[in-house]
Parts: sequence; C-alpha cells; structure tokens
Amino acid sequence: MKIIVTGGAGFIGSNFVHHAVAHTSSSFTVLDKLTYAGNLASLEGLPADRVRVVQGDICDAALVDELVRDHDAVVHYAAESHNDNSLDDPRPFVDTNILGTFTLLEAVRRHDKRFHHISTDEVYGDLELDDPNRFTETTPYNPSSPYSSTKAGSDLLVRAWVRSFGVRATISNCSNNYGPYQHVEKFIPRQITNVLRGERPKLYGSGENVRDWIHADDHSAAVLTILERGVIGETYLIGADGEKSNREVVELILTTLGQPSDAYDHVKDRSGHDLRYAIDSSKLRTELGWAPRFADFEAGLRATVEWYRKHEEWWAPQKDATEARYAAQGQ
Ligand code: NAD
Ligand code: TYD
Repeated sequence: MKIIVTGGAGFIGSNFVHHAVAHTSSSFTVLDKLTYAGNLASLEGLPADRVRVVQGDICDAALVDELVRDHDAVVHYAAESHNDNSLDDPRPFVDTNILGTFTLLEAVRRHDKRFHHISTDEVYGDLELDDPNRFTETTPYNPSSPYSSTKAGSDLLVRAWVRSFGVRATISNCSNNYGPYQHVEKFIPRQITNVLRGERPKLYGSGENVRDWIHADDHSAAVLTILERGVIGETYLIGADGEKSNREVVELILTTLGQPSDAYDHVKDRSGHDLRYAIDSSKLRTELGWAPRFADFEAGLRATVEWYRKHEEWWAPQKDATEARYAAQGQ
C-alpha cells in the first residue's frame, strides 16, 4: 500500500513510521507542516525508497487532493497537540484539528480512499480518582480544553463523513503516550530533561492527577492492526492499563536518574486541569486481538529516560525556548 501519514514528523507519527516500515512492506509519504513540534531528525535512518517527506499544511486543499489521489490510505496524526498551548492561543487548534481534518475528509471522499483518524481519550472529559469506571467507546463526549474540544469536533466530522458519504474511515482514541521523539514541552520529556540539566521537575498543582500511560510503539501496533482489520465506521479505544499519578511518574524519573524522590517543585496548576483519564481497551483486544508489548510501565519509562540521556542533540535545541514559555506562564 501507499500510505500518507499526516503529522509523521511529530512524536507519535514518527514512531508510527518507524514501526510500520519495520512491520509492513508499504511505502509512506509523510505530510507535515513542520511546525515547532515537527522534527525531520525523528525520521533519520529510514529507507529513502519507502519514506518520502512532503512539507505542507493539511489545510491546503490543492496539495491534499493531489497527494490523496495518488495513495491508497491516509493515517491522520497531524494536530496541534498540547493542552497548555491551546489555553494560550486556541486558534491554530481550530484551524489544524478541525479545518485540517475536514480538508482531508473531503479529499478521501472524492477519491474513495481508506482513512484512519488518530484521536485522544481526552474527548471524554475526566474521571474522579475513585470512579470504578473507565472510558469505553460508548462514553459520552465531554471535552474540557480547546485542544480536546477540537479533537472531539474532528472525531464527529469523521463519523458524519462515514454515515453521510460512505467514507471508509475508522477512529482510534488513545491514552497518554510516552517514548522516544516526544517534544520537551510534554510532561515526561520535560521532567527527564530537567533532571538531566540539573533542574527540578515541575508538578502542576498537587500532582494527584492521573494519566493512563502507553508506550508509543504499542500505539503504533494498535493503529496498524486497525488499519488492517478494523471495521469501517468503528471507533477503538487504545490503552495499556498504565494509570499513574503525575507525582508517581516524577518520583520514578528522579530515582531512575539517581536523585532523591522528593526533589521536585509544585508550580501553578493548569486551568481546567483534567483530573484522571483511564481507558478500557477490551474491544480492541477481544475483537482485533491486539495486546501491548510494553506492559511494564517502569521498564518502558527507564528505556525512555535512557533514550533522552543518549539523544541530547535531538532535544537540546528546543529546551531553552520551551522553558522560557513555561517561565512566562509561571510554570
Ligand atoms: P506532536 O505535536 O508531537 O506532532 C504533531 C505533528 O503534526 C507535528 O509534526 C506538526 O509539525 C504536524 N502538524 C501540525 N499542524 C499541521 C498542519 N496544519 N499540517 C500538517 N502537519 C501539521 O503530536 P503527537 O503527540 O505526536 O500527537 C499526534 C496525534 O496523536 C494527534 O492527533 C494527537 O491528538 C493524538 N494523540 C496524542 C496523544 C499523546 O499522548 N501525545 C495521545 C492520544 C492521541
Ligand atoms: P501533558 O504531557 O501535557 O499531557 P495531557 O495534558 O495531554 O495529559 O501532561 C500530562 C500531565 O502532566 C497532566 O496532568 C499535566 C501534568 N504536567 C505537569 O504536572 N507538569 C508539567 O510540566 C507538564 C508539562 C504537565
């Protein structure tokens, strides 16, 4: 197959391209605007005869149409992806996440191509810490932030294009990813690189908030499974039973790097901060036979710490500007 990967120079998209090159015989065209979050260094080492990069905007209808016409499928990762940025300036989130998805849907509709839409569990809002329930495919949408509301809007567009126009699409909503190539603005890389630079990790608020962590490589395997065997029109939740409080994660990073487990700072909380996310991925596991390989979060986190320790040249160029932005916000 010839597959377009939008956002393939970002964190999860680049992990997908590495995974899919190793596990399929398809060829891939990365369509990426190369915003502050895109990094061609994340695609280094991939075979040039199977991976091509086109720098462009998913809102550019002419470019999108021309590329979609020549490919079999689109896997759509491109997005503005950081909640904190969406609180500062929501506009690019509306443009890329909603209008960009609309532009892609119109092209796959015109050319009758397979479409897989990557989304997040954040569309479901948040859970109480002691809620015995987890998110499932039938949980009502209840997004909290400009980021999650624009992702929710894009999911609903995909559902409508399936029902109204017969577009051959599937959707996956995944929990928080960790692993190599994640931008230092995000929680885990920010704390690892802080400690590596001799600075203290920064916990928003009390640090009690819970995220359900999955290794990006497990996310990639799940997406390939859905692309190959998913039922058109269906939504699949992707998660690896990795619930941890932010405080637990910071303590693990500190001890992994030989620091006292309490050597962190509490900083100003995020406005509207979701308390807890948790995914029930039974449908994907029972209907499509997927299971995570990185079942041990602590081992996966140690490997990720090691990756950042060895790849300072990848993250150092972004670190100062990212921390300057956080400092201006008091975080
Ligand atoms: P990221 O910010 O690391 O990467 C996004 C990529 O999209 C970047 O390469 C950027 O240059 C590109 N991009 C942005 N706007 C574009 C545009 N208009 N046209 C073309 N390319 C554009 O994000 P990520 O963390 O890799 O997330 C990828 C996808 O996965 C997103 O759709 C996100 O909602 C979803 N997701 C992320 C997580 C997570 O934990 N990070 C969890 C579940 C779902
Ligand atoms: P983040 O990586 O931004 O992902 P998301 O908002 O999509 O869950 O943040 C993960 C959690 O970590 C979230 O509860 C906010 C918190 N957080 C901190 O405590 N400190 C930080 O420096 C950052 C960036 C996030």
